Amino acid sequence: MNKTIAVIRGDGIGPEIVDQALRVLDRVASKYGHSFKYTDVDMGGCAIDKYGDPLPQGELDKCISSDSVLLGAVGGPKWNDVPGNMRPEKGLLRLRAGMGVYSNNRPAKIWKQLADASPLKREIVEKGIDFIIVRELIGGIYFGEHKTENGVATDVLKYSESEIERIGRIGFKTAQKRSKRLCSVEKSNVLDSSRLWKKVMHRLAEEYPDVILTDMLVDNCAMQIVKDPSQFDVIVTENMFGDILSDEASMITGSIGMIPSSSLGASGCGLYEPIHGSAPDIAGRDIANPIGTILSAAMMLRFSFDMSDEADAIEHAVSKFLDAGYRTADIMSDGMTLVGCRQCGDIILENI
Ligand code: IPM
Ligand code: MG
Repeated sequence: MNKTIAVIRGDGIGPEIVDQALRVLDRVASKYGHSFKYTDVDMGGCAIDKYGDPLPQGELDKCISSDSVLLGAVGGPKWNDVPGNMRPEKGLLRLRAGMGVYSNNRPAKIWKQLADASPLKREIVEKGIDFIIVRELIGGIYFGEHKTENGVATDVLKYSESEIERIGRIGFKTAQKRSKRLCSVEKSNVLDSSRLWKKVMHRLAEEYPDVILTDMLVDNCAMQIVKDPSQFDVIVTENMFGDILSDEASMITGSIGMIPSSSLGASGCGLYEPIHGSAPDIAGRDIANPIGTILSAAMMLRFSFDMSDEADAIEHAVSKFLDAGYRTADIMSDGMTLVGCRQCGDIILENI
């Protein structure tokens, strides 16, 4: 198959980790007889420096007209003082909204080889950690009005029934493919938007009688994720709660550096990115963990290109890397072999 992929290296460690994922994709292409054509897109701080805009329309258009988008990470202290609507992160938000990718899928799964890297007690980890956070990605407080006037700052949190319904359906469908348990997370004891969320979820539940829907308040959910993560299978939640809970969930699996994500909307063109940030403190030192990005590329093959054998091959190659005792700095432990970013890419692509 021929596919075009828009590639956003971004800032900080973005370029290093994306380069490893592209090498892995090239290996897959040659092994399985595909052709992947890459188009570079500037977004984030590097785009601010070049164009004075974190995502010029022309760059967004390149993404929308591709078959899929692979992204590293954006942001860094260099752009901390630029106005809010010009920050590197604004480029990412505009990209998500511009592509219409409302459904963000963030798996929290522990690799058996990394059980010791989890900060949780062994007996909790051994009960199993394997769940998915389905995060609404283009609504809520991220996209409401933001303003600061006369020393008062306002951010508007708004959800419509239709916005809740479309992400709710993804939650139910995701649960149908797994254990048929869906946990809807909100703050309905305080927020109107959460009360509407809960009402819409329960209305939808009637259409998915095979799925057991439970409700959980977000503060309790944050606690339950560290107390007994094995109770979760699919969590569906709004934008900001999903942002926070997915960082928490990634950490209990060992490292945020390992977690990929997919973001999809109505079209097949998806956005694939690791869930971590640009880590400016370690940028350019060849010590970042590229696995979250490499696994994001695997998700792209699986969900946007329908190449499940190829995706399996990448995931298997990562597992073999870990089996052989190789570790990047973020997941390093006694007796393991420390490797850098590029070497991690070398070993994974040799395993394909
Ligand atoms: C994430 C990140 C982004 C978000 C930032 C960089 C805007 O934290 O993808 O989780 O909050 O969505
Ligand atoms: Mg986040």
